[in-house]
Amino acid sequence: MLRPASIRVVPAVPTLRRAAAPTLEHMTTTLITGANRSLGLETARRLIDAGHTVYAGMRDPATGDDARELGAHVVRLDVGDEQSVASAIAELPALDVLVNNAGVLGTSYGVDDLDADAITAVLDTNVVGVVRVTQAALPLLRRSENPVIVNVASGVGWPRWLTDPSHDEFPVKAVPYAASKAALVALTVQYAKNLPQMRVNASDPGYTATDFNGHSGHQTITEGTDATVALAQLGADGPTGEFHNRDGRIDF
Ligand SMILES: NC(=O)c1ccc[n+]([C@@H]2O[C@H](COP(=O)([O-])OP(=O)(O)OC[C@H]3O[C@@H](n4cnc5c(N)ncnc54)[C@H](OP(=O)(O)O)[C@@H]3O)[C@@H](O)[C@H]2O)c1
Repeated sequence: MLRPASIRVVPAVPTLRRAAAPTLEHMTTTLITGANRSLGLETARRLIDAGHTVYAGMRDPATGDDARELGAHVVRLDVGDEQSVASAIAELPALDVLVNNAGVLGTSYGVDDLDADAITAVLDTNVVGVVRVTQAALPLLRRSENPVIVNVASGVGWPRWLTDPSHDEFPVKAVPYAASKAALVALTVQYAKNLPQMRVNASDPGYTATDFNGHSGHQTITEGTDATVALAQLGADGPTGEFHNRDGRIDF
């Protein structure tokens, strides 16, 4: 993808956490929301390969066979339901890495089909849902030696790319989805400021073939999880409050 000269993309994530050779004492425990399919499932696969113990959150555990086959622990988790979130977090023995991946596009693609209910539904999953899960997870994360949060945002939430015809994001006209992902990037920066002891970053998967877009994306799911997986493996000296795609940091 072409990048305008004014947008600096710096080399990818510098440090990795110690998950490659876990010991029983230092096993990395990871929760991924929306991990039954697509990017969430691929993130689970790759982090299990990297040595993480993965809890795969999903609305319906009956859809969890692929995650179970990978060796993930399936946990019922609807990010739109406070009680479901509380029950899911209560099932975890510990938590080092939280990947807020679950997201929806919504039912509005322009302004003629847009109303308050349409944007409220998208914000409730993509923004409020992240807050529900993160707030519930904080007590466990605070007990971790190396707590990490990755919020799966999107270049569609990045105004420079929404306004640049050379970017994949430019043709997208949906108001709720773009607004939700822009909010998620700002939310990430603010969480990072509030939690200096944690690594809190946002990822942009890039345009990736999944159910989300009828498999029209030009990236594979492995390419689409590169940034999320790298950020999930940050060491304590890694960056925080940043936004990364698979090419590295997207300069604010
Ligand atoms: N694909 C792309 O090109 C692309 C690009 C940029 C960013 N992203 C972001 O990447 C993330 C994953 O996208 P994807 O392509 O994998 O999408 P997807 O194929 O539509 O999968 C979405 C996942 O989110 C889950 N989910 C939706 N609402 C939920 C809720 N209330 N509680 C729990 N889980 C919920 C879905 O669960 P169900 O199976 O129950 O519906 C599913 O597991 C999203 O945040 C998306 O915005 C994707």
